[in-house]
Order: sequence, then C-alpha cells, then structure tokens
Amino acid sequence: MKKLLVALLVLAAASYGFAGGGGQQSSGGGVTKGMDRKIVMGYSQIGAESEWRTACTNSVKAAAEEYNVELIFSDAQQRQENQMQAIRSFIRQKVDIIGFTPVVETGWDAILQEIKDAGIPVICVDRQVTLAAGKRQEDYITAFIGSNMITEAQKAVQWVVNYMKTTGNSKKKDDGKTVINIAILEGTTGSGAQVGRTEGWNQEIAKYPNYKTIFRQTGNFTRAEGQQVMEAWMKSPQANDIDVLFAQNDDMAIGAIDAINAAGKKPGTDIIIVSIDAVKGAFDAMLRKELNATIECNPLLGPQVMDTAVKILNKQPITWWVESVEGQFDWTNAEAAYPSRQY
Ligand code: AHR
Repeated sequence: MKKLLVALLVLAAASYGFAGGGGQQSSGGGVTKGMDRKIVMGYSQIGAESEWRTACTNSVKAAAEEYNVELIFSDAQQRQENQMQAIRSFIRQKVDIIGFTPVVETGWDAILQEIKDAGIPVICVDRQVTLAAGKRQEDYITAFIGSNMITEAQKAVQWVVNYMKTTGNSKKKDDGKTVINIAILEGTTGSGAQVGRTEGWNQEIAKYPNYKTIFRQTGNFTRAEGQQVMEAWMKSPQANDIDVLFAQNDDMAIGAIDAINAAGKKPGTDIIIVSIDAVKGAFDAMLRKELNATIECNPLLGPQVMDTAVKILNKQPITWWVESVEGQFDWTNAEAAYPSRQY
C-alpha cells in the first residue's frame, strides 16, 4: 500500500513537471459534457501579467471543471521556450486536444508542424500566430477564439477624437488644426495584441493629421512597467505637451495614472487616457474620473474553448473564428455597468 502511494506521488510529480509547472485539474472519472468519454486538454497559458490574463485563466479552468475536461495547465511565465516545452510534453502525453495563447506571433512553424504530424487538433486562444510566407494559420490551427485586436484600437481612436472634439482636456480642444500630442504605451512587443492594436491605432489615427505621437514605448502589459515608463515621460522636457495617453491595456493605464498623479498632474483631465480590456480596476479608475475610457476585450473565453474542443473532437462543423462581441465604457456608462461586470 505504502509503495503504491509513493509510486502514485512520483507519477503525479512527473506529470506536473511535464506540464511546465501548472498542474492538472479534474482528474476524476465520468465523461466530458457532450462526449462519450472524458477528454484531456493540454493548455499553455502565457502567464499572469494582467488582471485580464488572470480572468482568462480562471475562465478556462472553471469551464474545464464544468465540462469535466481533464486540463493539464501550464503557465509559461511570458517565455516562448516554456510554451514550446509544455506543448512538446502535451504531444508526448498524447492529449486529445491542445489549447494555447502564443506569447508572440512568430516562431511557431516547427512546433505547429509537430502537432499536426501527431494528429492533435489545436485551438489558439486570445492571440493569433503569423507563419512563414505562404503558410496559412488556418492549415495548422483548428480554431481561433478571441478578440479582434485591430478593431479594438480603431474604436479607441474614434473615442479619443470624439472626446477631444467635444470636450477636450484642461489645455485644449480639437478644432481640426490644433496639434494633439499622444503618448502610447504598447503591450509585449511582437504579441498578437501589440501588433494588432498598433496596426489598428496607426491606421485610424492617420485620418486625423493634427494628432502627433510624441512618445511610444512598451510597458509589457504590466502595471509596474506602465508606471515606470510614464514616470520617465513625466520627467522629460515634453511632459507638459502630452494631451492623450493610449495604453494598449488597462493595467498599464492604471500604472501610468499613479505616475501622472505623482508628477502633480490630473489624469483624466490634464491628460485624457483611454485603454483596452474593461477590467474591474479600469472601472474603479473611471469612477474616480482618472481613466476616461476603456474598450472591452473579453477574457471569459473558457466556455467557448471547451465547447469548440468538444465539437472538434466529435467532428462537428465549427467556424474557424467567431469574434467576441464587445462594448466600450466611459464616464457616461461606467457606473451603470459596474455591478454586472464579471471581471
Ligand atoms: O492578449 C490580450 C491582452 O493580454 C490583454 O489586453 C492584456 O491585458 C493581456 O495581458
């Protein structure tokens, strides 16, 4: 009995190690909802850099419980090589299906070929990949579940331009000629979210030539780095010129708000701030009138991931990408929306 127990413990430790340190969930019996057997999903999450990411992870884990899917969860701590290691262990373990959020867009060609050769379907969650010229991601990835990063940033531009025209900041309004200076905090360089949001912002803002970018730097989607970068900008000779801050996620905007306050300026009034995600922290900042607006990016993707996995394994038809339906929030609707926010 004692020997059996030790053997079981060793086995559990080994599978934890293979999964890259994330653990295994729902290892009991029964069948997966919608299936005639229990399925195993290997899931590589990129980390826990933001409030959004934590909500996404919680959603995937809760949905796995609900569907009775055995989830081998791995946290890559923002490193692509950790994701590769985890995915290779999923292949060795012959999981039924793989889910992963690529930390950056490129560099996945070889491993996606390995997954394909192993005959394992793969769902990309939240971020897409870019493969070598001539290759289509649809030929390697069975389904994508997530938001349209380009349109999110386009909505942010529209919100800023409308606000600067109708209300403005404490220094100026947009009359079509006055120069409006923008600072941009970008997400993790090379990630689908950073690439898409930069593209969407650049395309849309180009329609308004009086908007000029005076600062642009990555804050890696974290509160701490958003704060650090903004602190440096607030100490520069151009600090007083900043009219608008666009942060590619709420966490960086929240960090930047601290830096703006510390520099003796009023966030939301002296500098208009718009970001993306719509997490609870952003609502708190909007209710304090420090963040002006947030464009929603839905992290509650777990149920859609599990539902799609079941359909794929049952060989039912699926749509490759069903875009998330999302809203936008500012001082006109944040208070009313707050009680029903789930993340
Ligand atoms: O890929 C989605 C982005 O990643 C979210 O906007 C951000 O908060 C997260 O870390």
